[in-house]
Amino acid sequence: MNRNIGVLISGRGSNLQAIIDAIRGGRLDARIAVVISNRADAYGLERARAAGIEALVRDHKAWPTREAYEAALVGELRAREVGLVCLAGFMRLLGPTFVGAFPNRILNIHPALLPSFPGMHAQRQAVEHGVKISGVTVHLVDTTLDGGPIVMQAAVPVLDDDTEDTLADRILAEEHRVYPEAIARVIAGGWRIDGRRLVAEGR
Ligand code: GAR
Repeated sequence: MNRNIGVLISGRGSNLQAIIDAIRGGRLDARIAVVISNRADAYGLERARAAGIEALVRDHKAWPTREAYEAALVGELRAREVGLVCLAGFMRLLGPTFVGAFPNRILNIHPALLPSFPGMHAQRQAVEHGVKISGVTVHLVDTTLDGGPIVMQAAVPVLDDDTEDTLADRILAEEHRVYPEAIARVIAGGWRIDGRRLVAEGR
């Protein structure tokens, strides 16, 4: 697979930083061609620029429809020959215009063991539900909310005295470990999609 990555963010960008660090550290053989944020105040934009990566703001509110906005994003990514799109805290649900442009070439990271606790505030949902184990999921993106075939997961125990924030911190540490690994796996190839499952080729 083409090793040019496009990273979409909406905020802090700590997962973006983990990807940058993994590339620098030789743990991920890829190149970040562009970072795009839908919010001008996303701290991740500064992380990108500090790393010498092109960083764009494309505010969804500046486009009349979701389709038009997504077409604009696709145009920016295609112009930079992006082969894999990584959502890293990008808080917009993507529709068929975007997903159809990159079939099985979009990854998302979610702070729960999907299909448990999709959507917003996954860590709070986990604490409130009282689960004893939560974690992180990296999955391919389809048009369903936090759906799509799972690439990799890691478990994180929920402790009795956890709050949303303490659990989020421990899950985040696992996110930073798992996301670059999952990206490397997808880029390396040797897998195929069988129904909902991502499995090794030949199985
Ligand atoms: C991460 O915890 C990520 O898993 C979550 O947003 C945070 C972004 O942090 N994503 C979702 O909840 C997607 N449904 P970051 O900007 O520091 O990478």
